[in-house]
Amino acid sequence: MKRPALFCIITLLAAACSNPKATVLEELSSPDGKLKMSFIMTPEGTPEYSLAYGDETVIRPSALGYELRGTVKAEQIGYEGDEVVKTDRLEPYMFNRDFTVESIGRSGLDETWKPVWGEEDHIRNHYNELSVDLLHKSGKRMTIRFRLFDDGLGFRYEFPQQKEMTYFVIKEELTEFTLGGDYTAWWIPGDYDTQEYEYMKTKVSEIGPVFDRELVGNSSQTPFNRWGVQTALLMKTESGLLVTIHEAACVDYATMHLLMDPKELTFTSWLTPSADGFKGHMQTPRTSPWRTVQVAPDGPSMLASRLVLNLNEPCAYEDVSWIHPVKYMGVWWEMISGAGEWSYTWDAPNITLGKFDYAAAKPHGRHSANNANVRKYIDFAAANGFDAVLVEGWNIGWEDWANCGKDYVFDFVTPYPDFDIKALNAYAHSKGIKLVMHHETSSSVRNYERHMEAAYSLMNKYGYDAVKSGYVGDIVTPGDHHYSQFMNNHYLYAVTEAAKHHIMVNAHEATRPTGLCRTYPNLIGNESARGTEYQAFGGTKPPHVAILPFTRLNGGPMDFTPGIFEQDLKAWCGRDSYVNATICNQLGLYLTMYSPLQMAADTPEHYSEHLDAFQFIKDVAVDWSESRYLAAEPGEYIVAARKAKKTGRWFCGGVTGDDARDFTVSLDFLDTGRYEATVYQDAPDAHYKTNPKAYTITKQTVTASDSLEVHMAPGGGFAISFRKL
Ligand code: NOJ
Ligand code: CA
Repeated sequence: MKRPALFCIITLLAAACSNPKATVLEELSSPDGKLKMSFIMTPEGTPEYSLAYGDETVIRPSALGYELRGTVKAEQIGYEGDEVVKTDRLEPYMFNRDFTVESIGRSGLDETWKPVWGEEDHIRNHYNELSVDLLHKSGKRMTIRFRLFDDGLGFRYEFPQQKEMTYFVIKEELTEFTLGGDYTAWWIPGDYDTQEYEYMKTKVSEIGPVFDRELVGNSSQTPFNRWGVQTALLMKTESGLLVTIHEAACVDYATMHLLMDPKELTFTSWLTPSADGFKGHMQTPRTSPWRTVQVAPDGPSMLASRLVLNLNEPCAYEDVSWIHPVKYMGVWWEMISGAGEWSYTWDAPNITLGKFDYAAAKPHGRHSANNANVRKYIDFAAANGFDAVLVEGWNIGWEDWANCGKDYVFDFVTPYPDFDIKALNAYAHSKGIKLVMHHETSSSVRNYERHMEAAYSLMNKYGYDAVKSGYVGDIVTPGDHHYSQFMNNHYLYAVTEAAKHHIMVNAHEATRPTGLCRTYPNLIGNESARGTEYQAFGGTKPPHVAILPFTRLNGGPMDFTPGIFEQDLKAWCGRDSYVNATICNQLGLYLTMYSPLQMAADTPEHYSEHLDAFQFIKDVAVDWSESRYLAAEPGEYIVAARKAKKTGRWFCGGVTGDDARDFTVSLDFLDTGRYEATVYQDAPDAHYKTNPKAYTITKQTVTASDSLEVHMAPGGGFAISFRKL
């Protein structure tokens, strides 16, 4: 329903505005009435919004809009003396003031939809909507659409097709989030190229100095400002409310970071630039991604929020029968830990594909993706009920892959001489196992797109239905970044092209998810954060796994690769790194770190030493009809119970950070009847540093009216599987 601005009920709530002359034009309430959003116009014609939860101000009046690159006029391109006047020197103009409101629309939705896979089998999408049509003094039009849910706010910019605005270039998006106070934040440094950081916990006013102190190196890294952070950004207000800023449906647009102004306590959006330095190349009609502010009274309700998924479009595919959850093992951890290699030979100082004769090269004898080793993994995975085995290092080129700016790195179709692609796939299939393809692009995106069709066709030929891709190193074309508009288009292109081949995608080092898996459910995983691999690169502190579900997982599942049973990498393979987690912590992750793609990342040998604990990984489901977060405090602990979609079996698990914790798990989530509960928990003397393998496994009969006492050691966890009697 739309009406002209003239008829708006103008409520002058000057107190709610930072600018005393600003006018609250409209108010919007969440369906349950707890959240209230105000839409404000300042006398300068700047649109603003604010957000309150009950009596508490979450976001103070915050400006909306853009700075755009000046329009290119033919007569402005030419010479000034000897110098060419470039388009980027044209005067930018502000598209965040000089607006008038043309009309205002209101609507809403209350629907329930079914995800192809997920934490639950149906999701309620319930919001009230306000749309504001704005006219800029230049004659250009823009709409801002707000959706207010019980669990937060989403809003986006919409640019209708119009003669006055056909193509335009974004210099900056200037969306503000002015906080109601100096909130505590769990943040990682803003960076155009990597998200593989540990989280810092500080007041937002302290980000800069802590950034200076804590920034650590990474391959391909472009931090942009010491006050810059990434989303999803989790914060806690003075009163204990949790607030998360993120984005939804980032399509054909750059990934958003946030830049803090500590004097005003304002975050402003900070987009990742393209190689030319501008932040977005737009053609109308177009919309921005949704900017999201989730608000929850406690940890469990924040983890249960599906706002980001709800703001994405419904599934784009008619036939989804080929998309399925995957529990897998991999020829992987042994290379990450240094016990094996991706490469085949040390004969060549560098490689030009097609010109190097691998058959004549001397193998170095450490190549993990060899026929015998892959068969060993297939045998173990098949014997233990897995779906798939990932094999990395199967294809030529790994001797020389991570070199700056190298364009033609891999061809994605030629196996090493000791990897018999046909025979290994046939062997795997005969045992009910699929191999998972691996495409490390080394960020030579052009090269990947060059070979993509052939690479996916090869997968079809041998019966692979899932690929793990990777983007290590600086992006080729040089100057581009992992989270730019161009790269975001590439990641989605890889997913939609894969869909044509009925292939599921798990992309590492790609941009952080914004809920696109709702629309494109063959995107079954992403890394896009610091995963388990860092336990082999010096270690990650225990609180990390109790933060990720609030931050990185907000936009979609993570291929975190849990399940490490051998912590002492030095004793195993000589790598000077230690896994900071008990065995029970690793079990708990299968419940707390939701993903339809779950790996058992350790080796068959290490699992064989603890077959009793490994039983939980064999049993645990990866797709759920129902999920309950029983307890959750960022960085401290997370406890979740979930009901398996196919079998109706319940599982429960928890992880803790640095501190030991004892928990009483009330079993009221169980259905009626008696169950056998198998409880895997840290032994009383377990500790991730000194005694990580100490656990107990006990069985008892329980019903929904019982509760269970469980113990978690520092860096520990627990897991329970229930079997109906
Ligand atoms: C980094 C990925 O995160 C890791 O899983 C992979 O093994 C290596 N790149 C090599 O592709
Ligand atoms: Ca990685």
